[in-house]
Amino acid sequence: MLSKKIEAALNGQVAIEAASSQAYLAMASWAENQGLGGTAAFLYRHSDEERMHMLKLVKFINERGGRAIIPALKQPGTSFKTITDIFRALLDHETKVTNEINGVVDLCLKEKDYTTHNFMQWYVREQTEE
Ligand SMILES: [Fe+2]
Ligand SMILES: [Fe+2]
Repeated sequence: MLSKKIEAALNGQVAIEAASSQAYLAMASWAENQGLGGTAAFLYRHSDEERMHMLKLVKFINERGGRAIIPALKQPGTSFKTITDIFRALLDHETKVTNEINGVVDLCLKEKDYTTHNFMQWYVREQTEE
């Protein structure tokens, strides 16, 4: 059973992964409009991966007796000028996500929730790739 604190932290992470998926979808669409087919394909795939990260959290929260909250999504920024802008924004975003994940891992240790701590290791590994 998840504690309320852990449940809230995991739901926070659901919102972050959903926002990531939405942000990369906006980037993908921008790249496609610029005729950058390869980059668009990469970003569409990345957007799908982020949605998968979100789903994994939703299922974990519900399986552990919590209640996953599906968040509203803000319209992501679309004022990109160059492809370098996009990849800089992407790296910036992923760095923030990594910090958030580390925060959840810290909380798991504080709360002695070793099951969630174990689950979160997948995200820690994933962020190394990102
Ligand atoms: Fe992610
Ligand atoms: Fe990511």
